[in-house]
Amino acid sequence: MDINKAVADLMSRNSRVVNGYRYTLPSSELYPFQWLWDSCFHAIILSKYDVESAKEELRSVTKKPLSCGMLPHINYWRQPKDTVVTNWGREKRGDVIDATWGTDGTSSITQPPLMAKALWRVYHAVDKDVDFLKEIYPVLFDHHTYLINERDLNGDGLLFIINPDESGEDNSPRFDISLGLEAVHTSDDHLDRRISLVHKNLLCKFDSKTYARRYFAVIDVAFNIIYLESLQIMALIAQELGRDDETRIFKNLADRVRLSLRSMLSMDGSVRLYSYDLLREKFLKVNTWNLFMPLYGGLLDSNEASILVDCLKDERYFWTNFPIPTVARNSACYDPDDGFWRGPVWMAPNWFIYKGLMRYGYIDLATELAEKTRKLITLSGFREYYHPTTGEGLGAKDFTWGGLVTDMTDHEL
Ligand code: GLC
Repeated sequence: MDINKAVADLMSRNSRVVNGYRYTLPSSELYPFQWLWDSCFHAIILSKYDVESAKEELRSVTKKPLSCGMLPHINYWRQPKDTVVTNWGREKRGDVIDATWGTDGTSSITQPPLMAKALWRVYHAVDKDVDFLKEIYPVLFDHHTYLINERDLNGDGLLFIINPDESGEDNSPRFDISLGLEAVHTSDDHLDRRISLVHKNLLCKFDSKTYARRYFAVIDVAFNIIYLESLQIMALIAQELGRDDETRIFKNLADRVRLSLRSMLSMDGSVRLYSYDLLREKFLKVNTWNLFMPLYGGLLDSNEASILVDCLKDERYFWTNFPIPTVARNSACYDPDDGFWRGPVWMAPNWFIYKGLMRYGYIDLATELAEKTRKLITLSGFREYYHPTTGEGLGAKDFTWGGLVTDMTDHEL
């Protein structure tokens, strides 16, 4: 199978144009809209062979910020017929806020801030198009300003998310406690809680800090590590554009976030960074793939990294036939058959972990992970997620994240 060609075909099948804006659907069958971090993955994938389309993907995904500057996790663009749409809230233009959504609407929550990373990759792909940097940077600046002002409760630089879906890992077990769910619950219960949070946010008129003190506020590990990298890249972009004050501001913020994340690391023989529930004032000690995000973020020294890599390679926890399960296989919540983000392998986590391993020089292990990840595609096609033991494809078909394997071939971070 020529994976590069199969990826290019899939990306083109899932590509749509509305009102002159081109974007890629994660899966035409199950996800017929534009998602924020998906489009960042798409831009990274496209930047490897079609930079113009990569630029268009970033143009469309940054087209509909809310009036507060936040980039929403879904741009609906248009409603495909017969699609049942989950209501993630919508901000109407003109200061009127309600919970309906429309053909030109967006959702009212966000997703991990990968946009600066994607922009930087696209910028470096071929032509260093400074005009394109200039075009997109202001929207990213506003989005980061929103995050800095509205999502940092304690002034330590770390951001809280207001809904599990903002992590991109909708029903990950690390949010069960924060949602007030019992260990045993149905996926419908889980979704109901997440949707009810959207309505609570609307009741709070999108005042995130008021909402956070009452309903849900989690300092999520992956979200904050992606944010840390984003601040570092925003500093580089600002520098490229000759905006020295902004370069300094982003660098200083990145330093603060890095220190704060390090202060959350527990190192009692193992190296663990857990998400933190600000309302309950407790760490969410569930062993998900997020344990390995400190590698991606470069948060560790080489000794700490090697302790973490030993844990990654351990067959009792994460090194399954087809690694990496999203939840450790010895965890009570590990559910590889039916679990969505509660066990199956997803391509984006594998991509983040691959990059983290490369960053720390674990080239053989990274290469092995990339090979096993590619094998999932040759065996089961482009699926939303996969069974960690059998490699069976699960969830949506023609799902684009498999395209990330084309970026698991080199040292490029
Ligand atoms: C699922 C994933 C989320 C993704 C969306 C669209 O909800 O959990 O991360 O953005 O699908 O692909």
